Amino acid sequence: MSRLPHRIPRSELDALLQDVPKEVFSEEFTKSCEVVDAFVGDCLRFLVHQLALEGFGGTPEDLVRSRGYSHHGLALVRWLFDCLHLYGFAANRDLKAPVVVRVPGVDLEASFACAVAESPRAEAALAVQKLATRVLPEVLAGQITGEEVLFSLSQLDLWFSYFSNENIHYAPSNSLAALALCRAVGAKARILELGGGGGSAAEAACKALADAHKPPSLYVFTEVHPAFLRRGSRLVRKLLPEGCQLETRPYDIELTPEEQGLSGVSFDAIFAVNVVHLASDPVVALKRLRTLLAPAGVLVLGELIRPSFDAPVHIELPFLLLKSYQQAKNQDGIRARPGFLCAVGWQNALQAAGFCEVNFLPSTLDQCLALYPGFYCAAIVAR
Ligand SMILES: C[S@@+](CC[C@H](N)C(=O)[O-])C[C@H]1O[C@@H](n2cnc3c(N)ncnc32)[C@H](O)[C@@H]1O
Repeated sequence: MSRLPHRIPRSELDALLQDVPKEVFSEEFTKSCEVVDAFVGDCLRFLVHQLALEGFGGTPEDLVRSRGYSHHGLALVRWLFDCLHLYGFAANRDLKAPVVVRVPGVDLEASFACAVAESPRAEAALAVQKLATRVLPEVLAGQITGEEVLFSLSQLDLWFSYFSNENIHYAPSNSLAALALCRAVGAKARILELGGGGGSAAEAACKALADAHKPPSLYVFTEVHPAFLRRGSRLVRKLLPEGCQLETRPYDIELTPEEQGLSGVSFDAIFAVNVVHLASDPVVALKRLRTLLAPAGVLVLGELIRPSFDAPVHIELPFLLLKSYQQAKNQDGIRARPGFLCAVGWQNALQAAGFCEVNFLPSTLDQCLALYPGFYCAAIVAR
């Protein structure tokens, strides 16, 4: 895998993205990726100093043991070492015992301010990285949990700003999935959305369906967290066209549809953006979802795609801090490290769950990733 950060070869990427309208991966988005990638590099340098890692040689297990970090810290340190290698701050990863090189210190607040000035609409993406970086030493030391820091009431607005179409670094996940949904359904579709959060994916879907003159007849907006459900429901209510029935309800992908009063209902499409990878066992969750689809129904997922089974995702720290994200089951051929799945993992999980046809948008995802290792964004369409 090539190193980060590097300039994104825009014209070569454009040539590969023939099945996606230009506005989805705009130049502003590409610029925001370069800014976020460079900022993550500064976060890593900051951590090298905060955690006194310069010159450390050894495995993540060695570090966890020698510093007395919690067992929960191992996945975090693995991520850290892999990213230090990805950014060229550690050598010999293949020997599983990298040596952290000397790197100049960094003023994280000044770096953050510069990054925001360069890409103002990526502020939420940058702020989430900064927050996760600042708390990592305390989480490793067992002084605080990721959940306490990231999900405190005072951070709720940051998450709404992060999972938003105003966040230029996140918005393509929604627009791409919305585009795939829109291409996959006809007018008057009955749509079930999972993990709808504050409603940013629903917002993109409603806009795409309206632009394509395919108003749905039923939109069931679901979410597991009550605060998100309330917020998302309010937004979706304003966006759906007249004549479309809206239902809002809690729904947990870890439970069966029967347990949640949804059995016996058929949908033309199930839509979820960055949700299904959260299932502890994606095959079980996907099998359950399949029972909710009408015979010609389609599952449309927007997902951050891991470059390969073993690759780190350089913007993954905020999620890895959460025990719930780390606890997701690793399964042969599906998931080798917690959290996001790679494209082959999704293909295998969907097939194991009984889906016969699986397509990715963009269809050239592998080539995009070879050009730019931070090209994580894809929609998955399964029947
Ligand atoms: C990454 S966010 C995606 C936000 C949302 N799709 C949007 O468009 O803004 C993941 C969402 O999945 C929800 N979630 C987490 N665990 C879940 C579960 N077991 N079942 C359903 N949703 C879940 C979270 O509450 C959160 O809103």
